[in-house]
Amino acid sequence: MQEVVDQLEIWVEENRSHTILGETAKYIPALAEQDPSQLGICIMDYDGDTYSVGDTNVNFTLQSVSKIISFVALCHFKGLDFVLDKVDVEPTGESFNSIIPFEIHRPGKPFNPLINAGAITVASMLPGDTVEEKFDRFLLFVEGMIGHNLELDDEVYQSEWKTAHRNRALAYYLKESNLLDLDVEEALEIYIRLCSISINLKDLAKIGLVIAHDGFDPVEEQQIFSSDVARIAKVLMVTCGMYNSSGKFAAHVGIPAKSGVSGGIMASVPPKWHSEEKAFRKGCGIAVFGPAIDANGNSAAGTMLLRQISTEWDFSIF
Ligand code: DON
Repeated sequence: MQEVVDQLEIWVEENRSHTILGETAKYIPALAEQDPSQLGICIMDYDGDTYSVGDTNVNFTLQSVSKIISFVALCHFKGLDFVLDKVDVEPTGESFNSIIPFEIHRPGKPFNPLINAGAITVASMLPGDTVEEKFDRFLLFVEGMIGHNLELDDEVYQSEWKTAHRNRALAYYLKESNLLDLDVEEALEIYIRLCSISINLKDLAKIGLVIAHDGFDPVEEQQIFSSDVARIAKVLMVTCGMYNSSGKFAAHVGIPAKSGVSGGIMASVPPKWHSEEKAFRKGCGIAVFGPAIDANGNSAAGTMLLRQISTEWDFSIF
């Protein structure tokens, strides 16, 4: 479908101007060095065909996109009931690394798995007796979806580890509240390792595709995780995936999505059978990379690009 690529090229170049509305994440020094003018997208359709446009030859770290994948992995390994007993599914209305909801509400569990407190809890509960084992089990789970090995970006990992003061405070807060079984430093280590996994647009689009199809990989024709887990994952992506822009994102884009401070966004477009003349009616996975992020931690240009695509091709689930 050359016309899809041609159309995407126009939209990517139009939206590249929005990169000036954001800046690279400054609190993780290695991310601050990324080129803020970059913008790239990959869409993977039901047959596994990909449409890649813009800055596509890039690897970037998963950052918070890892949170929805670790939630899915943990549910797959330990069951939904086990996980939902430990972490809630409520948005907070606070920034992703805020300690305020805990101080004010003193909840019996983190509000959701996509804020840092919830993600640290989820990461700490991954199967395995050691951080190494937990990380390897997680990698195997993701590699099962994308079909090849993934690696840690050690520079980003070290950079984040050395500057993880807020996350360390959050982890200590969880520990003090009896919400973290693992040792604080080990919980931080596994969490930051997941955030520092290096990925490309095509692989991220594939994971988005599997979530869009209720845990079924339409390319390899296998069920990777249950449709119940995928359903809750999509609910979380809609309600909390873009943090304090989740409402606006639902209104103007309307696709389950998860962002990260490195500038990645993974989006899952479920099948939509009406308006057959439009593209991707069997659903698709989308990955966007644009490291200039806005005040909420979402790729500034990436969000605008997704908005344009969703509007033009009628992707909204609402
Ligand atoms: O823990 C952190 O602050 C980062 N590793 C991840 C935060 C993040 O990606 C939030 N996303 N928009």
